[in-house]
Amino acid sequence: MSVKRVAVLVSGGGTNLQALIDSRDRGELGENCTLSLVLSSASDVYALERAKKAGIPSIVVERKGKKRETFTRKVIEALLGNNIDLVVLAGFMCIMGPEFTKVFENRVINVHPALIPSFCGDGFYGLKVHEKALEYGVKVSGATVHFVNEITDGGPIIAQKALEVRDDDTPETLQRRIMEQCEWRLLPVAVRLFCDGRLAVEGRKVYIKKEENI
Ligand code: GAR
Repeated sequence: MSVKRVAVLVSGGGTNLQALIDSRDRGELGENCTLSLVLSSASDVYALERAKKAGIPSIVVERKGKKRETFTRKVIEALLGNNIDLVVLAGFMCIMGPEFTKVFENRVINVHPALIPSFCGDGFYGLKVHEKALEYGVKVSGATVHFVNEITDGGPIIAQKALEVRDDDTPETLQRRIMEQCEWRLLPVAVRLFCDGRLAVEGRKVYIKKEENI
């Protein structure tokens, strides 16, 4: 099996990127995966520092001041130019044009900090997701890793993990627990499964193939 070149797209602190780097350093991403590129939508984010420390090449494609189509095209060009096999949206706060998922069909993975189809879609990102979940009064929340299609947060689900919401949770405490217990664990597992060729998409469903069936 050929080694998959993975690009991680970021827009902020990059703790999910860090979870991938730490997994790589522990050997948990396996031998079919290489973190080849970090692409950021802004130049002043800490995620770029994390990439540098981890020895991963990075590029910035500024979202600000560009039309969505122009931004999408520039990102696609950068990814194709780096022979990327898998694109991971890890706290990437930009909605892409439809061309993106056409070029990288079933090759883009996103991590969302809620149990899709709750608290997702346009306008649900970062801390806002947790504010809305607490306002609604849900007793469980969690994270979802899914393939990206043309609908925001609407693609086939790869993995989900739930946790209990506490009475005294604030958006910040809930966000932190969901990151630590759900996002940072699910994302590296999903990336490894993809790179090992173990994810099969059939319509809305993702099946995880047993190792002996690859
Ligand atoms: C994470 O909680 C991620 O799931 C969320 O933003 C945070 C980014 O953190 N993403 C979205 O809301 C996308 N819809 P990070 O930059 O530290 O990984």
